[in-house]
Amino acid sequence: MENFLYFTPTKVYFGKNAEQSLGQAIKDEKASKVLVVYGGQSAKKSGLLDRVYAYLGQAGLEYVSLGGVMPNPRLSKVYEGIELSRAEKVDFILAVGGGSVIDTCKAIGSGLCYDGDVWDLYTGKAICGGCTPLGCILTIAATGSEMSNGSVITKDENLLKRSFDSDYCRCKFAIMSPELTYSLPPYQTSSGSVDIIMHTLERYFSVSDFALTDALSASIVKNVITYSKKALEKADDYEARANLMWAGSLSHNGLTGCGTIGDFASHMIEHELGGMFDVAHGAGLAAIWGSWARYVIDVKPERFAQFAAEMMDIPAGDLSPKEHGLLGIEALENYFRDVNMPTTLHELGIDPTDAQIDELADKCCDGDTHPVGNFKKLWKEDVKNILLAAR
Ligand code: NZQ
Ligand code: ZN
Repeated sequence: MENFLYFTPTKVYFGKNAEQSLGQAIKDEKASKVLVVYGGQSAKKSGLLDRVYAYLGQAGLEYVSLGGVMPNPRLSKVYEGIELSRAEKVDFILAVGGGSVIDTCKAIGSGLCYDGDVWDLYTGKAICGGCTPLGCILTIAATGSEMSNGSVITKDENLLKRSFDSDYCRCKFAIMSPELTYSLPPYQTSSGSVDIIMHTLERYFSVSDFALTDALSASIVKNVITYSKKALEKADDYEARANLMWAGSLSHNGLTGCGTIGDFASHMIEHELGGMFDVAHGAGLAAIWGSWARYVIDVKPERFAQFAAEMMDIPAGDLSPKEHGLLGIEALENYFRDVNMPTTLHELGIDPTDAQIDELADKCCDGDTHPVGNFKKLWKEDVKNILLAAR
């Protein structure tokens, strides 16, 4: 077990009609002018955006808005948001949407507090030194960005998808009303559910462990497997949506990483896929995870056996740890299939050429200058092998 620092400052308003607390939540932050940021069309279509404007008006708050954030959000939209916020003297940023919208808001807020190009934070050229306060109304259970310290943005020109972490850009509050996720397309419900499972497993597959964290992680993974299927059967199953929504936050607010060293190699590989091919993040993870798992299982087969027993409910019997672990990997892939998620790149809808695989691996390790992952440190050649196995 590793020492750990646990910091989760986001105030959570959770439950039916939680969005009605919006005005008070922003007033508590002593803000007066809000930038409302949203995505393509879902928040408009559902009427949520009009309700948000009404809550802000009732609370006496001024606002301007910025729509059109796309999935795998782009840097150009961030620049637009920074310019608009400066011109309008905005002092609070509100995300109405999912990870893409929240990450865009984190980028705008951090950019407002940085003199240079905000992209410097994503390349590591500069470190985030502040962020305009932000909050969110979450509309999809997936990334956990509502409680995480990360932001992931894609540069328009070269489709390079990069992230940075900073406690400055954590949401002041996250409003989570599970009913707002009833309108999600099934593909997004599934993709989000895979992401939640992966945020848990990225921390679980660690060379160190902590029994309490393992138990919490197993509970989250099993819960998401159960309730994602229920949400797909019945889109307006409140209990299912509530379980998924809270699991999304808990899986990525640091709780499932207490005492372990996170791996995150699958995430790093997927971010390259998201940048180059614009695939949904969770679906991309589903397409490569099995190949990653089989590539690294020999580092610690016992950990995979424990995963099989405690998360996938597969008894050990006379199996060796590796045989047991491999059955666990297969069982999780079967779950992906059950919720119509891909288990190969081809099923994800992409067929990268050899040259593209090489480029993906090269970008992932920034020209082979550093490895990704911790469970097993993966260099460019390893990443290439995993991508080839996932084809
Ligand atoms: O744009 P609209 O029209 O709103 O549609 C969105 C979008 O097409 C739709 N949607 C969201 N809520 C909806 C809805 N449709 C109907 N009803 C609703 N209630 O869903 C689509 C996907 O939205 P998006 O925000 O892109 O999804 P997600 O939350 O999965 O975010 C993915 C992004 O977050 C990054 C990913 O890499 C990706 O760029 N991540 C951010 C992390 C973080 N900041 O901590 C960690 C993650 O690992 C991840 O990397
Ligand atoms: Zn993720």
